[in-house]
Amino acid sequence: MPDHFEEMWRAIAPVGRSQRSGGYFRQPLTDAERELDSWFVEQAGARGLRLESDPFGNRIAWWDSGSGPGVVTGSHLDSVLDGGAYDGPLGVVTALAAVEVLRERGFRPARPIGVSVFVEEEGSRFGLACLGSRLATGTIAWENARDLSDRDGVRLDDAMAAAGLDLENPQPWLGSGAIGWFVELHVEQGRDLVDRGAAIGVASRIWPHGRYRVEISGEPNHAGTTRMEDRRDPMLTYAMTALAANKHARLAGQRATFGRVETTPNSTNSVPSQVTAWLDARCESDEALAALVGTITRQGAERAARDGTTLTVTAESVSGAVDFDPDLARRIAVDHESGDWPVLPTQAGHDAGILSARGIPSAMLFVRNPSGISHSPAEHAEVPDCLAGVDALAETLARLAS
Ligand code: GLV
Ligand code: MN
Ligand code: MN
Repeated sequence: MPDHFEEMWRAIAPVGRSQRSGGYFRQPLTDAERELDSWFVEQAGARGLRLESDPFGNRIAWWDSGSGPGVVTGSHLDSVLDGGAYDGPLGVVTALAAVEVLRERGFRPARPIGVSVFVEEEGSRFGLACLGSRLATGTIAWENARDLSDRDGVRLDDAMAAAGLDLENPQPWLGSGAIGWFVELHVEQGRDLVDRGAAIGVASRIWPHGRYRVEISGEPNHAGTTRMEDRRDPMLTYAMTALAANKHARLAGQRATFGRVETTPNSTNSVPSQVTAWLDARCESDEALAALVGTITRQGAERAARDGTTLTVTAESVSGAVDFDPDLARRIAVDHESGDWPVLPTQAGHDAGILSARGIPSAMLFVRNPSGISHSPAEHAEVPDCLAGVDALAETLARLAS
């Protein structure tokens, strides 16, 4: 008898969990994430699902039934550094549970239903978010991705080969030929559903999102003997740039975050030679994103001129706005006994956005998060809401696969 939601949730809860913070370290192609991958393969086997695996580590477990392009649902099993339990795994576990619910109800799909897992959704190891779905859909070519490396200098192709993936000329394979619809269920990462008193929501759009590397060079020197007016300190330029980012994002009603900073040589009693920091910026429109990053860059450069440092900003990845198919969102959101599910935008990135941009009709379901906290050990969803998510997903699959 295949496990139901709570049994599956309990089984994966310890994997990659930090004793210290209670958060998760499930970086792609590490032991913890591979353990979850094996768990997924086992669960697919226990349900008699046919496993399709690509050379990049992505998986779809198919419930073969009927004919035509399938309805695929799923998410990811990797986490950000010290992340929560729900971002990603909730969409995979609810997908497996929803298949079980449909089978128990005797539902016979008119088309195949697939449960998917995409690798490195967060970009927490190799820097590029939604790497697995980008590779699967050809949004990024393998030749351009294979050189990506992690913080220890391990290359993506080496990490994949070490995980036993077959990288002989890998090709993108995921398209509308195999997938008629993609639905990703996800824990909500804000408080909209709490404010609306709703357990389930449907996504309307994803905000544009960019990651930028900000490199600031100065002059390394002695922390005691160098007069304050003689310094060329890149830390000052960084500090002022971070303040400018926060101020301008607030003024514009948008988002800007510096969450990762490296300083060289990282010595307490030295003026640093270099600071490298990563800006994550998200805005309502592509134009607003370009304007916000332009303003932050300009202010950073002005400050660098005053500090005697140099500042360069390099876009590492920029993803445009994703507008999910409104007819599909409506088809999913309306005519429920409990009333229509609210349709709302999100500022977080998702594989569903990548598939949607490649022309695969895609949708997202959100499950209420009582605090709205995400990318944190405190991320949470109550069990009754998760079970409501299983039912909502089962109903959505039944609508699309009938
Ligand atoms: C992924 O979760 C992101 O929005 O950064
Ligand atoms: Mn995330
Ligand atoms: Mn996610």
